[in-house]
Amino acid sequence: MGDEEDIFLEMFDKLPRQGPGKDECTRKAYSMLSDLPEIPDILDIGCGSGRQTLVLAEISKGHIDALDLNEIFLEDLNERAKENGFSENIRT
Ligand SMILES: C[S@@+](CC[C@H](N)C(=O)[O-])C[C@H]1O[C@@H](n2cnc3c(N)ncnc32)[C@H](O)[C@@H]1O
Repeated sequence: MGDEEDIFLEMFDKLPRQGPGKDECTRKAYSMLSDLPEIPDILDIGCGSGRQTLVLAEISKGHIDALDLNEIFLEDLNERAKENGFSENIRT
């Protein structure tokens, strides 16, 4: 891992999200989808530490595959999923 990547990870590690956004925006975007199955399969690409993944798990009750290049974010998401009772819904 290079120095620049180290700095990036140090800046963003343990933040609730790694980019702009709000839980209400995730909820609004989801509410605009139609014809979803009762238990949808969701692919969250570039999930970071998964703030939106947790919101999606809560509102969809579906199964989510959460992908990110950085393992450190996925470890954080796994912890948060466990703490929030979504371990069965979220696979990193
Ligand atoms: C701007 S952050 C957004 C993270 C999260 N979705 C959020 O809203 O907080 C973009 C994320 O995409 C990940 N990423 C970038 N390129 C990727 C790729 N090719 N495959 C998987 N993840 C990638 C980065 O590691 C980073 O965590």
